[in-house]
Amino acid sequence: MLKLSKLATAVALLVAGTAAVAGEVEVLHWWTSGGEAKSVAELKKIMQEKGHSWKDFAVAGGGGDNAMTVLKSRVVSGNAPAAAQIKGPALQEWAAEGVLANLDPVAKADNWDALLPTVVADIMKYKGNYIAAPVNVHRVNWMWANPAVLKKAGVANAPKTWPEFFAAADKVKKAGFVAVAHGGQNWQDFTTFESVVLGIGGAKFYHDALVKLDQKALTSATMTKSLETFRKVHGYVDAASPGRDWNLATAMVIQEKAAFQFMGDWAKGEFTTAGKVPGKDYICAAAPGTDSAYTFNVDSFAMFKLKDAAAQKAQADLASSIMGVPFQEIFNLNKGSIPVRLNMDMGKFDDCAKLSAKAFVASAKAGSLEPSIAHGMAVPPAAAGAIQDAVSQFWNDDKISVADGVKNIAKAAKTQ
Ligand code: BGC
Repeated sequence: MLKLSKLATAVALLVAGTAAVAGEVEVLHWWTSGGEAKSVAELKKIMQEKGHSWKDFAVAGGGGDNAMTVLKSRVVSGNAPAAAQIKGPALQEWAAEGVLANLDPVAKADNWDALLPTVVADIMKYKGNYIAAPVNVHRVNWMWANPAVLKKAGVANAPKTWPEFFAAADKVKKAGFVAVAHGGQNWQDFTTFESVVLGIGGAKFYHDALVKLDQKALTSATMTKSLETFRKVHGYVDAASPGRDWNLATAMVIQEKAAFQFMGDWAKGEFTTAGKVPGKDYICAAAPGTDSAYTFNVDSFAMFKLKDAAAQKAQADLASSIMGVPFQEIFNLNKGSIPVRLNMDMGKFDDCAKLSAKAFVASAKAGSLEPSIAHGMAVPPAAAGAIQDAVSQFWNDDKISVADGVKNIAKAAKTQ
């Protein structure tokens, strides 16, 4: 009996001893496509190597709308995960609720201020304190193309302007392929919309209309032209598009069923996972008219306040790992994005990533580096959600005139 209780005490001590160094991290994210799952597995591996256990909390649904709904209900019911993928202005809203942990101890020890572009560091901070760890920089204004399809359709080069694009898309259609691989979900409609606005109006107009939400810009002739162009793009989408996941749209380009897709460079994660080589099997080009601009989308993880010391240690290790060189390299190689950490060696990255890195720096200098509205970087979630709905309604219903589409979007932009 005595022996048994001694054993119990020993086991209890052992467990307590381990708990002081190893904890569990439950991580909410929406990375469920092939390329995404491969990328997040790297983070899990790093955490496990540090002795922590990883509880995966994946909520399917590109763009993260579903994940954010689930997150809200978990937090409201007092059962927040240790960490969650939260981005842009939404971080400020969560921090204002007082539920996020202050990551300054890790950020100071690891010198994040010196390792991050200011534009990114500012997004990660609430009242001067770090409340999220950034993972990557995605470029949203990409157009993906299949060169074999273009060749068969007699299109010599990836189009650089919208008129060139429509001329190419006509040839592709004639040759019997789908011109634009599109997943008909609100956030994908919105993603295409923002690239069209950027291409038609330029970075300054994009900023006025979709970052400042300036009513004059939102109701201008340039917005009318943007919506006309956006509607025209819809004419090149196949009938099976509604509801389709983004990665299935990418698969259409990979499998030579479609010529183009407008999507951020997480699409590259799918090409990479399929063993495809940029420049040979697929083309990455800026969406028409957006060559010198860059809409950025930075994924980040916020940590929720937890009481348990082991859990806090696991959170700190997670934050530190995310900003570490090994993770920044391997994750971004898989994900299609570029490292958010400055001065990383880009040797192992492909030409699309190098192009993105170059365009990021050049556009920052030129004043054409803009936050993506479709990916929660530009305006608070309420306004972004309302505009997204108006954009999707317009996309899906030809009976809504361009004039009414403009009005509806401008009205949605007033949502607070
Ligand atoms: C996220 C990406 C993700 C994509 C599709 C975006 O909003 O930033 O990390 O791959 O949605 O799910």
